Amino acid sequence: MKDTELVGAQKTLTPVLKAKALDNRLPDPILGDQYAERVMRRLDPDYDNGRSGTSQMGLVAVVRAKAHDDWARSFLADHPDAVVLHLGCGLDARVHRIDPPATVDWYDLDYPAVIELRKRFLPPREHYTQIGSSVTDLTWLERIPRGRPLLMIAEGLVPYLTETEARRLVTSGIDAFPTGQIQIDTVSVWAWRSSKWNPMLRKYDTQFNCGFNDPATLADWHPRLEYVDEAPMYDAPVLMAKAPPNIRRTYRLLNLLPGLKRSSRIVRFRF
Ligand SMILES: C[S@@+](CC[C@H](N)C(=O)[O-])C[C@H]1O[C@@H](n2cnc3c(N)ncnc32)[C@H](O)[C@@H]1O
Repeated sequence: MKDTELVGAQKTLTPVLKAKALDNRLPDPILGDQYAERVMRRLDPDYDNGRSGTSQMGLVAVVRAKAHDDWARSFLADHPDAVVLHLGCGLDARVHRIDPPATVDWYDLDYPAVIELRKRFLPPREHYTQIGSSVTDLTWLERIPRGRPLLMIAEGLVPYLTETEARRLVTSGIDAFPTGQIQIDTVSVWAWRSSKWNPMLRKYDTQFNCGFNDPATLADWHPRLEYVDEAPMYDAPVLMAKAPPNIRRTYRLLNLLPGLKRSSRIVRFRF
């Protein structure tokens, strides 16, 4: 199977993976994910050919991945008995990058077609389970052990859900676990509403289904949920320090556009 057999939102895993693969070629990468380069080559052997084949404009997605990794590492250092739910995992190799101790049980979840690709391209490991299901069909939650701290990571997923679906996912996780951390990213209402004209999403025949101008207010979804903080994305110091000069300049200019800098936000909650 190739990515041509993925449909709609499933295809959006490709540009993110490609960005991580290209980051790994930088002399001083942001994420330094060797799996991404290998998996991207298998998914599309020609991925770096063509006019924009090696453009580093996607590095902002790598900044997002690094922020999620850093938060996850710090939570797991404090909670080595945690259960990790990595939702809408795509072909991301987070479990291998983070390499948690054997006391952590890690679950990667995405649509069955994506999990089938993962099983071909990425190695198995102990205390690691992959589940092929829509995140919105919450019967998968019955397979997850309870009574331990929960780390819920949803990178690049929430905008593809409706607000009702995202809320049900988050509140079901909180109701099922005693304590935990939830890290997600969201798009603004403008980015959501205009997503039907977004060229990348049009190409993949999909669009966003929810957006929030102040994602901190998502803490209102559940009485036990508390907003912690936000990680920078388009103006992240790591992007300005490590991106090639032409990409840095482009992002500096883009950040002057009203709304762009805050069009995508990475936020962390605890309960
Ligand atoms: C932009 S990609 C991000 C992939 C990965 N998190 C990463 O950052 O590399 C969005 C992912 O969400 C998955 N996705 C979207 N809606 C989903 C749903 N309802 N259930 C499961 N996965 C979903 C897609 O299949 C895709 O892998």
